[in-house]
This record gives sequence, structure tokens and C-alpha cells, in this order.
Amino acid sequence: MTYGETALNQTIDRLLSDHRDLDASADGALDNLDQFHIGGADAVERLIPALALAHGDVVLDIGSGFGGPARQIARRTGNHVVGVDITPAYVDAARDLTDRAGLSDMVRFHAGDIAGLQPDPPFDAALTMHVQMNVRDKTTWFRHIAERLAPGARLVLWEVCQPHRAALPWPMPWSLDGTDSFVVSPDTLLAHVEGAGFTVIEWTNESAWVQDWITRTFASGLPAGPALPMLLDDGYTRVINYATALTNGSLEVWRGCFTKGTG
Ligand SMILES: C[S@@+](CC[C@H](N)C(=O)[O-])C[C@H]1O[C@@H](n2cnc3c(N)ncnc32)[C@H](O)[C@@H]1O
Repeated sequence: MTYGETALNQTIDRLLSDHRDLDASADGALDNLDQFHIGGADAVERLIPALALAHGDVVLDIGSGFGGPARQIARRTGNHVVGVDITPAYVDAARDLTDRAGLSDMVRFHAGDIAGLQPDPPFDAALTMHVQMNVRDKTTWFRHIAERLAPGARLVLWEVCQPHRAALPWPMPWSLDGTDSFVVSPDTLLAHVEGAGFTVIEWTNESAWVQDWITRTFASGLPAGPALPMLLDDGYTRVINYATALTNGSLEVWRGCFTKGTG
């Protein structure tokens, strides 16, 4: 089962006690560990302007994982962020890391499906990064997101797409064997988001930027210190397979910015 890792908080404890020089509360200290998508913290920086946040706006992060993007947005913008994720062990880890960062008053996490979240008032903006590949019925899922947003709210995406049908090397970061993978072409994904009632502002192929990021990040080998693959079952193989598929063009990364219709 993908996302079946257990005892994550103990693993995080061990990794941090092996690196006592690391101040886990410092901005950026855990960027290699808690950002579960290609592009790391740099990708989140690319998304923040598109959220178009005003003072007091509350942001929803769907599929928040270990909470790296949510904490980064709260730090950069001063806005509150609510994460929702279907994997309870990941939500526990996200809460633990948020406590360590001293951000628990700004960043909260819910375990469960977006359909079970009843915000009052609705959220002012939302993002989702590397999640929809696990979702079979994408239009319904994006509709559930739309229903939890205020009219005119932004939705920002950082997503994996498959431009041509071809066999992928498993395991990948979002699926150990392909049985829970529903990755689609960029055109199909765009149609699902629009079909859920969002209007496109931007839909951009970021694969060249991602390729450059991979080259820059790993130019001198693996980064030192705690790293995401150390938290994941078969983590290094998943990351290497994904980087290979991005490099040979079997997969692409697309960045999107949408607004929820006012009607
Ligand atoms: C590849 S990780 C990305 C995590 C995070 N967005 C990030 O970029 O750091 C995918 C996450 O999506 C979550 N997930 C998968 N399907 C989901 C769904 N239907 N609703 C909410 N979360 C989901 C998983 O539990 C996992 O935490």
C-alpha cells in the first residue's frame, strides 16, 4: 500500500537526533525532508504569488503530506493554512513537524477526505501539489475542492502529467506498483479542473524548470542531512524512477492557476 509508512514520528526523532547540529525550527532547515514533490521549497516559492493572498486570508492545502508547503506559505505570507490529507500517519508527522517549527497557531491539519471538511467560512485560496495522480474521479474531487472555496478564490496546482501513454517504472513517489496511480495527460487534467467549475488563469509546462532544478540540486551528489526518501518505503528507488521519467519525457510537471467561478 502506498503511503503505508508507520512510526514516522519515531523516524523523524531518530533522524533529527542523528543531526543535532540542525535547528528543526529554523526556516528551511527541513526542506529536504518535508517537501513531498519535485522542486522542493523552490516549487512552493513559484506558487505563492499565484495564491494572491490578502491579509487574513486562510489557505487550504489538499493532500498536505508532511506539511512542508503549508508551513512555508504561513512563514512567507503570515496567512493561516489548513492542510487536509487522507493518510493519518502523515497528518501526525505534519503536526509534529509544525510543533517543532513553532507554527501550530498558524498551520493546522485534518486527517480525512476533502468531502468531509466543512469550513465556515469557506477558504480564500487553495493549493494542491502532487496529489491528483492518486485520484480516480478527478472532476468530482476538484468539485469538492471548489465547494469549500469562496467565490473568486484561487486554486493553484503543481502536478504530474503523462503526455503519452507509456509504461512507467514502478515504484513512483505516489504509487508503489501502479494500481493506485491515475496519472493523465495535461489536456485531460485541465478538462477535469475546468469541468469542476474553475476558470483557467495559467496552465504552464514546468518540465524544463524542473529539469534545471534536478541538475542544480543534485550537481554535487545527494544533499547532506535528513531527506524525504528516508521517510518513505523504497524511497530512493521511487525518487530515482521519477527523476528518470521526468528526464526522458515520460512524465511532465505542470503548474496551474485557476479561479472559482462567482456564479
Ligand atoms: C506525493 S504526496 C504530496 C504531499 C504534499 N502535497 C507535498 O507536496 O509535500 C501525496 C499526498 O497526497 C495524499 N493524498 C492522496 N490522495 C488523497 C486524497 N484523495 N485526498 C487527500 N489527500 C490525498 C497522500 O496521503 C500524500 O500525503
